[in-house]
Amino acid sequence: MPRMGLAVKLTLGFAAVAVAAVALTSLLISRATDSAFGAYVTHIRGMGTMMGGMMQDMMGVQEGEFLTTVNQSLWLAGGIAVLAAVGLGLLLARQMALPLRRLTVAARRIAGGALDERVPVATRDEIGELGMSFNAMAEALARNETLRRNMIADIAHELRTPLSVLQGKLEAIQDGVAQPTPREVASLHEEVMLLARLVADLRTLSLADAGQLELRREPVDVAAVAQRVAQAMRSHAEGKGVALALDAPPGAPSVSADPDRVVQVLENLLSNAIRHTPAGGRVDVRVSARDGQVRLTVADSGPGIPPEDMPHMFERFYRADRSRSRASGGSGLGLAIVRQLMEAMGGRVEVESQPGRGAVFTCSFSSC
Ligand SMILES: Nc1ncnc2c1ncn2[C@@H]1O[C@H](COP(=O)(O)OP(=O)(O)OP(=O)(O)O)[C@@H](O)[C@H]1O
Ligand SMILES: [Mg+2]
Repeated sequence: MPRMGLAVKLTLGFAAVAVAAVALTSLLISRATDSAFGAYVTHIRGMGTMMGGMMQDMMGVQEGEFLTTVNQSLWLAGGIAVLAAVGLGLLLARQMALPLRRLTVAARRIAGGALDERVPVATRDEIGELGMSFNAMAEALARNETLRRNMIADIAHELRTPLSVLQGKLEAIQDGVAQPTPREVASLHEEVMLLARLVADLRTLSLADAGQLELRREPVDVAAVAQRVAQAMRSHAEGKGVALALDAPPGAPSVSADPDRVVQVLENLLSNAIRHTPAGGRVDVRVSARDGQVRLTVADSGPGIPPEDMPHMFERFYRADRSRSRASGGSGLGLAIVRQLMEAMGGRVEVESQPGRGAVFTCSFSSC
C-alpha cells in the first residue's frame, strides 16, 4: 500500500473540499447571471437600439463591466479560499499528526525495552485520551516488569539458602568430615522438605496467576473443616505453650468451595498465628454466618502487625520481620496463597490489627 502521511491526506482533503465548494458556487452564480442578468442586459441593449445613436453604444456597457467584475471576484475568492483551506489543513494536520507521531516513537521505544517512556498530553480531546491511555499502559508494563524482576530475585534468594545448606552438609559427608548419622540425614531431609514446599507454593501461585488452578467446587461445611484442622494443629500449638480455641457452632450454611483449599487456607493462617503468638498466649478460630456469608476468623494474641506493613501483608515474599521469619523458615508466600485461593473460590480475605493487640484474619465465603 503506498504510504501517504496523515498531514498530506488532511491537506489534500481540505483543498479538495475548498475547490469543490468554489466550483459549485461559481457554477450556480454563472448560471443565474447567464439566464436572469443576461436577459436584463439584452433588454437594456434593445432599448438602446430603439433610442438609436449614442444611446445604443452607452446602454448595457456598465452592466457588462459589472458581470466581468463579478467573474473576476469569483476567481479571486476561489483562489483565496483554496489557499486558506490548504493553510488551515496543514495547521490542523500538524496538530493531529505530531502527537500521533510521538506515540509511534514512544511505542517503538517501549517495544525496545525503554519502559520509562511517556508521551506529553496537551489536549483533552480523543488524541489526549489516547496519550493518557498509552501512558497508563506504559505505567502498568513498567510495574509488572519490576514485579517480575523482584519475583525472580526473591525466588533465587529463597532457593539459595536451603540449597547452600544442603550442599555444605553433603560435601562434609563426602569429605569424611561429617558422618551420615540418622540425625544428619533428618536435617538434610528437612532442608529438602523446605525446598519442596517452596516449589509447591510457587506452583500454586503461578497456576492461580494463569487461571489454571484446579478447584473441586462442592458444598463445604466450614465449621467441620475448622474442627478438623484445629484438632490436627492443637498439639503443635500446645507444644509452643499457645492455647488453641475453636468456636464453630454447627448449623452454619454450606459454602461452595474446594474443601482441600479451605484446609490449606486455614492451615496457613493458623501456622502464622501460632508462630507469632508467644508462650502463654491464645489463638481463636471462629466460624459464623451472617448476611448470606460464612466467615472464618483466626485471631491471635501476638504482637500484631505494624501499620506500615498492613498494606503489604498479602504480597508475595513479604515478611514484616525479615530476619526472624527467615530463621523460622517462613518464605512470605503463605498469605499470598491464602488471598489467591480465596479469590479463586469467589471469596475474600481481610486483616485487622492493632500493634500489641494481636492480628485478626477473616475469610468470607458466599453460602450456597
Ligand atoms: N498472625 C500474625 N501476626 C503478626 N504478623 C504476621 C501474622 N501473620 C503473618 N504475619 C507477618 O506477615 C508476613 C507474611 O506472612 P506469610 O504467611 O505470607 O509468610 P511467612 O509466614 O513468613 O512464610 P510462609 O507462610 O511462606 O511459610 C510474616 O512474615 C509475618 O511477618
Ligand atoms: Mg505463613
